[in-house]
Parts: sequence; C-alpha cells; structure tokens
Amino acid sequence: MERRFSGMTVIVTGAARGLGRVAAERFAAEGANLVLGDIDAEGLEAVAGGLHEGGHSVEAMPGDISQEATAVALVEAALSAFGRLDITINNAGVAHPFQRLAELEGATLERMLMVNVMGIFYGLKHQIPAMERGFAEAGRTGVILNVASVAGLVGAPLLSAYAASKHAVVGLTRSAAAETARRGVRVNAICPAFTRTDMVAGFTDAMWGTPDDAIGRIVSSIPMRRLGEPEEIVQGMLWLCSPENSFVTGQAIALDGGLSAV
Ligand SMILES: NC(=O)c1ccc[n+]([C@@H]2O[C@H](COP(=O)([O-])OP(=O)(O)OC[C@H]3O[C@@H](n4cnc5c(N)ncnc54)[C@H](O)[C@@H]3O)[C@@H](O)[C@H]2O)c1
Repeated sequence: MERRFSGMTVIVTGAARGLGRVAAERFAAEGANLVLGDIDAEGLEAVAGGLHEGGHSVEAMPGDISQEATAVALVEAALSAFGRLDITINNAGVAHPFQRLAELEGATLERMLMVNVMGIFYGLKHQIPAMERGFAEAGRTGVILNVASVAGLVGAPLLSAYAASKHAVVGLTRSAAAETARRGVRVNAICPAFTRTDMVAGFTDAMWGTPDDAIGRIVSSIPMRRLGEPEEIVQGMLWLCSPENSFVTGQAIALDGGLSAV
C-alpha cells in the first residue's frame, strides 16, 4: 500500500459514517494521523475506536460543525495531539427530502445554510491560519478539501435549498483558494452526484416503489445510470489532497458519472 500521507495530520468532519468514514479509513491506511469530527458522538467513537484498534493515531472530537467552537476545537486538537495540520476534509453535511421550492419552508433553507455553509465557513476561517503558519514556519503545504455536490455546479430540481447551500460552498472554495494560493494552502471542492450512503437511503426511503425502483429514477439523468460508490468518491479526495498534486487549487471537481457533462 502506497503511504502518501505518512506523518501528516488530517481532519475529517462527518466521519461517523458515509463518505467521511471511508475517507478516515483510507487516509489512516496511507499513514495519516487523524482528528475526526461528527455530531453523532456514539458513531464517531465507534469509528475512532476501530481505527485505534488497527494501530492508527486518532483523536475523536464530537461537535456540531455549524458552531464556530467546533471548528476551533478540531484545529486545536490537531495541533495539540500531533503538532501540525496538513489536510482537512470538510465533509459533514445535510440534505432535505425531495420537495418543490414552492413547498419548502424557510427553516429548511436556514438549516442547509447553517450546517453546509456556516460549517465550511468556520472550518476555513480556523484551518487557513493554522496551515499558513505551518507553511511560513516549516515550509509545509496545507490542503483543504470541501465536500460540495454536483448540486453546487448545476441546478437540482426538488433539492433547491441543498443546491443553494452547495453553490455557496463552491463560492467559498474558489475565493479561499485565491486568497491562500501564495501562502502555501490549496483549497478545492469535490462535487459528487448521488452516492450510495445513508443520505441517499434517506431520499429513496421517502420515495414510492422499491428502493431499486427509486434508485432507477434517481440515476435516470446520470449518463452512467448508476449511483457512485463511496470508495470512488474517496479516491478523488485522496488524489486532490496528495502531495504530488501540487498545482490544482480553486477547483470544484465533479465526480458524477457524467451528470454535469450533459
Ligand atoms: N451521498 C451523496 O449522494 C452525496 C452527493 C453529493 C454530496 N454529498 C455530500 O457528501 C458529504 C457526506 O455525505 P454522506 O453521503 O456521507 O452523508 P451521511 O448522511 O451518510 O453522513 C454525513 C455525516 O455528517 C454528520 N453530520 C451531519 N450534520 C452534522 C453537523 N451539524 N455537525 C457535524 N457532523 C454532522 C452526520 O452525523 C453523518 O455522520 C455531505 O456534505 C453531502 O452533502 C453526498
């Protein structure tokens, strides 16, 4: 196994399940020390405990990423436990049930903005200075990867509040990348299409027909006509964060089976 992240400290938010959990496992397998966050303290402890048993160095920091104090605590944990912060995967996020915009409550959009946008904003606000210091003092490059969505690049019928929040994530990503480009920090976003996690199970459970029928309708607009697998998305994360990938910043990269190409 290639160990591209040996000795580096990686923060992953939303690590209790789904994409965040697989990301934590893959970064650990490639030598990273981890600081894991999630609002689900029990699920987070289970993931951290499993990695710890596997011989990996892991700190678990439960908390709600829509609160600034959570972002501060994650960065402080990285610096106090491992003395450095190299990579952050700002992955925690929420969606809402499929609903036409005219039927959405304002509170739904507010929740998307609080978790998906403020969570990433507070993350960037506190991760950037720590990474810029690491570059200025020790020449270490920092990498921030925000998990947006293909709904951050194109419109998403029945997911308009989610799409608005993910477009904002792309805007924060591009702006932060331009501000930090000469200070040793790269900032990118990935934009997955529907991927097989509990988030998509939440959509299909609420749809008519069997789960397979529901997935069939969801993927009908995707040229590959299938869901993404978490492993495929995490491979994109690893590639974007890898030290060899030193000239990519400010990008919002679609991992979407061709959805945004048509
Ligand atoms: N699965 C998909 O189809 C898909 C597609 C595009 C983008 N995404 C994005 O990928 C990211 C991960 O999604 P997933 O599919 O793994 O979903 P998931 O629901 O399986 O996992 C999300 C994780 O985030 C945590 N979380 C939620 N709110 C939080 C909060 N306020 N503070 C801290 N943690 C919180 C949850 O507890 C959970 O562990 C999200 O940002 C999501 O929007 C997912």
